[in-house]
Amino acid sequence: MTDTQQKNEVRIASPGRINLIGEHIDYNGGFVLPAAIDKRIYFHLKKNNTHTAKIYSKNMDKEFSFSLENVHPSKTEWHNYILGVVHHIHQLKPNSIQGFDCDIESNLPLGSGVSSSAALECGIAKGLNELFSIGLTDLEIITISRDAEHSFVGTKCGIMDQFAVVKGKKDHLLLLNCDTLEHRLIKADFGDYQIILLNTNVSHNLATSEYNNRREECENALKVIQEKYPNEKYLAQVSPEKVEEFKPNLSEKSFNRALYTSQEQQRTINATKALEQKDFKTFGELLYQSHEGLANLYEVSCTELDFLVNYTKNIPEVIGARMMGGGFGGCTLNLVHKDATAGFITKIEAAYKNEFNLTLTPIIVAIGDGVSIQY
Ligand code: GLA
Repeated sequence: MTDTQQKNEVRIASPGRINLIGEHIDYNGGFVLPAAIDKRIYFHLKKNNTHTAKIYSKNMDKEFSFSLENVHPSKTEWHNYILGVVHHIHQLKPNSIQGFDCDIESNLPLGSGVSSSAALECGIAKGLNELFSIGLTDLEIITISRDAEHSFVGTKCGIMDQFAVVKGKKDHLLLLNCDTLEHRLIKADFGDYQIILLNTNVSHNLATSEYNNRREECENALKVIQEKYPNEKYLAQVSPEKVEEFKPNLSEKSFNRALYTSQEQQRTINATKALEQKDFKTFGELLYQSHEGLANLYEVSCTELDFLVNYTKNIPEVIGARMMGGGFGGCTLNLVHKDATAGFITKIEAAYKNEFNLTLTPIIVAIGDGVSIQY
């Protein structure tokens, strides 16, 4: 039997991701510290011997079909993750995809900052690659998925999410240099502490437009800096001292964005060192500082996220917390003493309900492997 005959169907598990620190740093060319998690989207792909793709989402109980000869963006957002990936595979490897059916089932909360979007993109890319023996490398799966998000979904994201979803390793964080894409595995050892995500269950609709604005504001700040320092390639690589020099030349907003970026880059490097030295207190302190920067200088937080982070400051068993991901909703990431998790969750759930009349969803995460084939 040939390789292709063996693969009439394939099953894929594609995880979400967390990011410990280094937020809004990927598109600024710096270091980030993400990991894949043990919550996943599952795909079952089958050849159907037509020229049509049929996609079914079990969670939404919704289905859509499209002709592989005519792939264009849809008005329905979730379709675009799939359509975008198919389009970019077509661009890179013309005629490599034939008709297929794909069932999707997820235990990843959607739109909550754990990158269900990258999980969807990378999962479908990996599945098609296997089903049709296309021969895409991991890096091609990563960039195709990122490009799908740019051109079909409209978010000008960086590369962190797709990289973590594809390259994640169980019990490890990835220290990723988003300029060179070199990465190093760091043991995810938090001693007596555990990572708990708290999902605000809000997702403010500013997220995409403000995300793209931040990226543009950073690019503009970098251009001004490059007039004096043409060798500076990325904003995250400019030191905070150098950024300070440009206070008179930049608008207050641009200056704040640039300052946050260069400070967050330093925090990420320092946090990685602290973690490797098992200095969890310093690590946690840097998480709080990161949140301050995201809220005040980068302005991507919101009342719900700020409330949750501030609340933890009065709980000694929590040594660090911050908003995670793009912002304007989604989750906070908390480092909580293992003996205190249950009590902490009960207290903060009640406080959140009382403040906003909203339900908080705690997510206890373990760090898992990247996207994988499950025969
Ligand atoms: C989103 C984007 C990523 C990254 C984060 C912020 O998750 O998809 O590329 O920029 O926001 O760190």
